[in-house]
Amino acid sequence: MNLCVIGTGYVGLVTGSCFAHKGHKVVCVDKDAEKIRVLNDGGMPIYEPGLEDIVKACRKDKRLRFVTDIAEGMKDAEVIFVCVDTPPTASGTADLSAIENVARQIARHLTRYVVVVEKSTVPVKTGDKVHKTILRHAPKGITCDVVSNPEFLREGSAMKDALNPDRVVLGVTSPKAAEVMKKLYADVTCPVLVTDIASAELIKHASNSFLATKISFINAVAVVCEMSGADIQLVAQGMGLDPRIGSKFLSAGLGYGGSCFPKDVAAFEQIARELGFDFSLLGEVQKINQEMRQRFLRKVEEELWIVKGKTLAVWGLAFKPDTDDIREAPAIELIQRLLEKGASVQAHDPQAMKKAQKVLPGLTCCDSAEEAAKGADALLLCTEWPVFRDFPLAKLKKLLKHPVVLDGRNLYDPVAMRAAGFDYRSVGRA
Ligand SMILES: NC(=O)c1ccc[n+]([C@@H]2O[C@H](COP(=O)([O-])OP(=O)(O)OC[C@H]3O[C@@H](n4cnc5c(N)ncnc54)[C@H](O)[C@@H]3O)[C@@H](O)[C@H]2O)c1
Repeated sequence: MNLCVIGTGYVGLVTGSCFAHKGHKVVCVDKDAEKIRVLNDGGMPIYEPGLEDIVKACRKDKRLRFVTDIAEGMKDAEVIFVCVDTPPTASGTADLSAIENVARQIARHLTRYVVVVEKSTVPVKTGDKVHKTILRHAPKGITCDVVSNPEFLREGSAMKDALNPDRVVLGVTSPKAAEVMKKLYADVTCPVLVTDIASAELIKHASNSFLATKISFINAVAVVCEMSGADIQLVAQGMGLDPRIGSKFLSAGLGYGGSCFPKDVAAFEQIARELGFDFSLLGEVQKINQEMRQRFLRKVEEELWIVKGKTLAVWGLAFKPDTDDIREAPAIELIQRLLEKGASVQAHDPQAMKKAQKVLPGLTCCDSAEEAAKGADALLLCTEWPVFRDFPLAKLKKLLKHPVVLDGRNLYDPVAMRAAGFDYRSVGRA
């Protein structure tokens, strides 16, 4: 099929390249001319394992193109995916101006029936508004259908998730659009759930909010573990053996970050409030998440007393391993606070240093984990990249000025750390 993807960010680029990889002809559009230039020059604006090879192969086979002009992008399209950003506003609601803008632009360039697919995460009822907006601005007599097809990919494993999803949700109102979408997803082996648009939109917000709740829950239990002398990893293991609970998303640490959970939980709480329901549980989820960052900073201060004038090594800047995304990453906020307090921070991250340097000009980025640790008063572990997990402890001890390690991801074994002579603190473990 001929597809157009509007918004060539983490979701749009992965969506476009995966559909092209499956044999469709895809044109990806973005208003960011620099991003499109980089892609057309054979470069990559983001890091995602496996993405570059697939983009290269699909461009070579002429199944994937990148343009800045929506009219050109949607010229032959039967299906248009909307993958633009929906960032949070100060009040927590999603800023839908990019969605509205794209809806009007699609309408202006419509020449025949198309299916417009919401992939961006949007509040319930947005699909109706997109549909109304397109019909209002489209040439007389030309119709379209709007489908909600929320994206569940996880950065770091986005290609795998997009090529082999665990479910496909299709919120549709017309049988014609349902047919088109089923054809597009005919090859998937996972369940395909067809719903109304509002339910599909809510599935996405409810899923992310539930996962974030699980993380905040285990982090709150970790605090109780610290206070009671229990071990969060044993507690989580015992809880996770219950199949009703499951072992996933029970890792205590610095809390969730990234471009989705923080904004989606805040937006879901706000959506509920606007509809007349006080979903205060989600307020608590966010509060606990923020508290985990503050508690970690307090631990740093407890260990070092005065951080002003000290040199701190930070391992990991991205909000999770295998991505260069630093949006809402705990490490970024932590470093900001430490710099404000007068510390020097030297950090290493395998992929996220370029983006971190842009938002933290005072940060010293180091080419290796070794260089970042050298001469530091303490090491703060913020992202559990394998390179940090595998770093030899004896070497680390020699590199640091003082053998102080604060582990925000429970990456190391406390017994091994103490045996190696470290002052070691982690989350929820005695
Ligand atoms: N990143 C994720 O892991 C993830 C997962 C699932 C869902 N989502 C949702 O998908 C949406 C996109 O997320 P993302 O991480 O890809 O964002 P992103 O910021 O990486 O990409 C969005 C892109 O849209 C472009 N854009 C904005 N307005 C445009 C316009 N009028 N015309 C053309 N291009 C335009 C931007 O320039 C940008 O390149 C969000 O709603 C997000 O919540 C993200």
